[in-house]
Amino acid sequence: MLAAICTAYGAPDVVQLREVETPVPKDKDVLIRIHATTVSSGDCRLRGANFPIGFGVMARLVFGASRPRQPILGTECSGVIEAVGPGVTRYHPGDAVIAFAGAGFGCHTQYRTMREDGTLTAKPAGLGFEDAAAIAFGGTTALHFLRGPGRLKQGERLLVNGASGCVGVAALQLAKHFGAHATAVCSGAKSELVRSLGADAVIDYRSADFATSGERWDVIFDTVGNAPFARTRNVLNENGRLLLVASGLPDLLRAPFQSMMSGRKVAGGTAPERAEDLALLAKLAESGAVRPVVGSTYPFARIADAHTHVETGHKTGSVVVTLAET
Ligand SMILES: NC(=O)c1ccc[n+]([C@@H]2O[C@H](COP(=O)([O-])OP(=O)(O)OC[C@H]3O[C@@H](n4cnc5c(N)ncnc54)[C@H](OP(=O)(O)O)[C@@H]3O)[C@@H](O)[C@H]2O)c1
Repeated sequence: MLAAICTAYGAPDVVQLREVETPVPKDKDVLIRIHATTVSSGDCRLRGANFPIGFGVMARLVFGASRPRQPILGTECSGVIEAVGPGVTRYHPGDAVIAFAGAGFGCHTQYRTMREDGTLTAKPAGLGFEDAAAIAFGGTTALHFLRGPGRLKQGERLLVNGASGCVGVAALQLAKHFGAHATAVCSGAKSELVRSLGADAVIDYRSADFATSGERWDVIFDTVGNAPFARTRNVLNENGRLLLVASGLPDLLRAPFQSMMSGRKVAGGTAPERAEDLALLAKLAESGAVRPVVGSTYPFARIADAHTHVETGHKTGSVVVTLAET
């Protein structure tokens, strides 16, 4: 099978298409023929060894010292089950599925095995493969932070910083689904998009600073990494929650102290990979409550170009890579 191999840490051209052996499903595994995948901000971080500040050494210990230990990147995909191991009971060949490999990566290829009890769910029939590939990475992150440390409640005011990115579009739509009032922060060119996803108010970060706006929010969801507590404390309500989705180690180390001293909550960390969250996101996408946002698509042969695009930090929603015709 053809796979995009990350040969070293570096610029997008370290990603090269190569023939590798097709995996054989073990007892409880399914073998997925991948139709679509994404190049996520997580793929770009790993490929470029561009880890959040303070995490460099730890990340290289986990993911590989001089190049990614798992050379096939790709955190999420959609496809059709080609074969199953002898112990598999939940899925059958021919079933269309959505898979979230997360930190296990391995989706930038034609075939990937997953455990049947892994982060895997049936693809709703009404959802195309490209849209289906775009719901896991941003959706599971947004769901975890909003329901977990965010404790977002109906009627509360939420601000999403970086609302037009993959995590941001999911946070915005889930917040509306939970009945919150949502302010989106993004560049002006994307204000129409975020309004169409339900944003009640939009702030163009290029011409205004939400942190000096005089407005206040119950929850601030920062996907950009430029809204630490020092910048946001004055616009966070009493009992407010600051969600540091993209922060470095220094901000995360300060968070418990800031929470204790201010009566607000400052929280960060890594979102877990849970099959029930993926199943919920698939259901919400099927019902139209959360619309997958595919900003652009690339054929598999141009996956390095997809990396270059994502690396700008200004993609819209998800960048999808299609494999069906490969
Ligand atoms: N903690 C976790 O478990 C977890 C999980 C997944 C992802 N993440 C992290 O979350 C971050 C966001 O991921 P993503 O995939 O959503 O990234 P992305 O798709 O690249 O989103 C970036 C978005 O931020 C906007 N943006 C850029 N500069 C901005 C600024 N100064 N102010 C406001 N918005 C700005 C861009 O919009 P414009 O084009 O309009 O500028 C773009 O749409 C990444 O750092 C990723 O590593 C964390």
